[in-house]
Amino acid sequence: MFITNDIRYIGVNDHQVDLFEGQYVVPNGMAYNSYLILDEKIAVMDTVEAHFGEEWLANLERELGGRRPDYLVVQHVEPDHSGNISTFLAKYPEAAVVGNTKTFGFISQFYPSLAAQNRLEVKDGGTLELGRHTLNFVFAPMVHWPEVMVTYDAADKVLFSADGFGKFGALDVEEDWDCEARRYYFGIVGKYGAQVQRLLKAAAALDISIICPLHGPVLKENLAHYIKQYDTWSSYRPETEGVFVAYASIYGGTKAAAELLAERLKAKGCPKVAISDLARDDWAECVEDAFRYDRLVLASMTYNADILPVMRHFIWALAERGYQNRRIAFIENGSWAPQAKKVMEGMLAGCKNLTFAESSVTLRSAMNDETREAVERLAEELCR
Ligand code: FEO
Repeated sequence: MFITNDIRYIGVNDHQVDLFEGQYVVPNGMAYNSYLILDEKIAVMDTVEAHFGEEWLANLERELGGRRPDYLVVQHVEPDHSGNISTFLAKYPEAAVVGNTKTFGFISQFYPSLAAQNRLEVKDGGTLELGRHTLNFVFAPMVHWPEVMVTYDAADKVLFSADGFGKFGALDVEEDWDCEARRYYFGIVGKYGAQVQRLLKAAAALDISIICPLHGPVLKENLAHYIKQYDTWSSYRPETEGVFVAYASIYGGTKAAAELLAERLKAKGCPKVAISDLARDDWAECVEDAFRYDRLVLASMTYNADILPVMRHFIWALAERGYQNRRIAFIENGSWAPQAKKVMEGMLAGCKNLTFAESSVTLRSAMNDETREAVERLAEELCR
């Protein structure tokens, strides 16, 4: 498949994967992208996940048209992209593997028996001449691993962006980019906002017409939209005005209060209200929504003088991803010693620039007139 006259898509779609990275549900599968640059010298940009070696090599061979590659550029060693370095080298042993010091360190950790005869180590800002195309390597540590580098080709104005601008979902399924790109971003790269900001600054100096990520579609139009989304997400600014209500309930009392609050927020004209059951809804979707909206309500039962494990995991997932710049409110429940609010607040103590609503709701098992009024007050405050 042509990206430009010289650049071809040779990636694969994975519809067998149950959990991407062992933790993210991917109902529409996953794409492992790989590209071929045909010039006087030929470069392959990354491989694909181990199970897809045969299909990938067939794609590569078809586009090579009888020629042989000179280079395999390894932008990221995570096995979803490096899983076929050895299959590649078995077929093209003369090709040089291009990476940085950390790339080769990780390759030897993941594939101790892999013998790359030719290694070409590049530096940040280094280049590789192919002919009409010159590859410019820009190191992008922690987007998403320390060895990551992205590659810019000025000839066709293409940025090979590694995991950046990627999304969940195979390429043979049509779906909204923002939703699955946002879930992917906050799930996988969310912790590394500062590093993504650095990469965006470097990218701003480049004339880019096409972004070729390692997951998700090749982006050719409306690049300003994708860059704006990445800028918003990586600077931890809320994207949408609205409230996300996340609840963890046992016998339904907490759930009822969370649902009443959502209903009252909508009735009062709050622009957007989302609600999720942390025990049943996809946790990565919940993390995505917490980062998307500017207000978050956490509603949990007290459990063994703590909170329910799903709420603990959720708050941990937010805090370790640098959750900040949001307004927070609490609903707690406890039949004899409610302390969920204290625990939840404590877990967020290290997060920057959170403001906490003055109102909160404390249930003792189920809602009554008093707690219904408290929900109403909280809705009022969150809508102001
Ligand atoms: Fe798609 Fe970080 O690997």
